[in-house]
Amino acid sequence: MIIQSATYLISSPDYTKCPKPDRPEYAFIGRSNVGKSSLINMLCDNHKLAKTSGSPGKTQLINHFDIKSLPDGESPSGSRNEAWYLVDLPGYGFAKVSQSQRKQWEKMIENYLRNRENLINVFVLIDSRHSPQKLDLDFVNQLGEWEVPFCLAFTKADKETQKEVSKNVKAFLDAMRKTWQFLPRNFVTSAEKKMGRDKMLQFIEACNNE
Ligand code: GTP
Ligand code: MG
Repeated sequence: MIIQSATYLISSPDYTKCPKPDRPEYAFIGRSNVGKSSLINMLCDNHKLAKTSGSPGKTQLINHFDIKSLPDGESPSGSRNEAWYLVDLPGYGFAKVSQSQRKQWEKMIENYLRNRENLINVFVLIDSRHSPQKLDLDFVNQLGEWEVPFCLAFTKADKETQKEVSKNVKAFLDAMRKTWQFLPRNFVTSAEKKMGRDKMLQFIEACNNE
């Protein structure tokens, strides 16, 4: 898939304020500072698209990006160009928020994930440098209960050796095996090294065509 254009559309405090659900949508979620905005920028080949930050808690609303793409091998004048949305969601697990802010976040995210009718897939981002974290496992289990389709994207793979990354990916999947009969698809990514880009875009393209 070739990304022809990626533009910021709107930030919404609530799923009812999101753009008209008239095209496939893919959302990115995960712990605060895990690299959601950076991964979106890497996929779209535009480092200025979603705001990134060294300090956690940067993204606070439901941020929609309008994407136009072409399937591989299609000429730019071809008729098969596709339109879809990418969504950057605020991270969970940010220590410096009050109980009431956290509750508000949870409600906003739950409402969005359970009610957004054009939501095709959620990418849950996991930091590839760490062994399985309860917060992430709780979150994927919650998605399971809500029957929200998701994949895992392990981030920042450039920061560790391949061996360490593989060990952490395996440990996370092993931890999921305790409660899950089928494991989700997973992608190992680095926004820094553009790792995982082709596979994720191929996956999105396949979903768009389903
Ligand atoms: P919040 O919106 O605050 O929840 O953060 P986020 O999940 O959107 O993370 P963001 O993309 O802002 O990245 C957080 C920090 O991690 C930034 O300093 C990024 O430069 C860094 N970072 C993100 N992805 C990678 C990566 O693949 N490799 C490296 N080395 N650093 C990364
Ligand atoms: Mg962000």
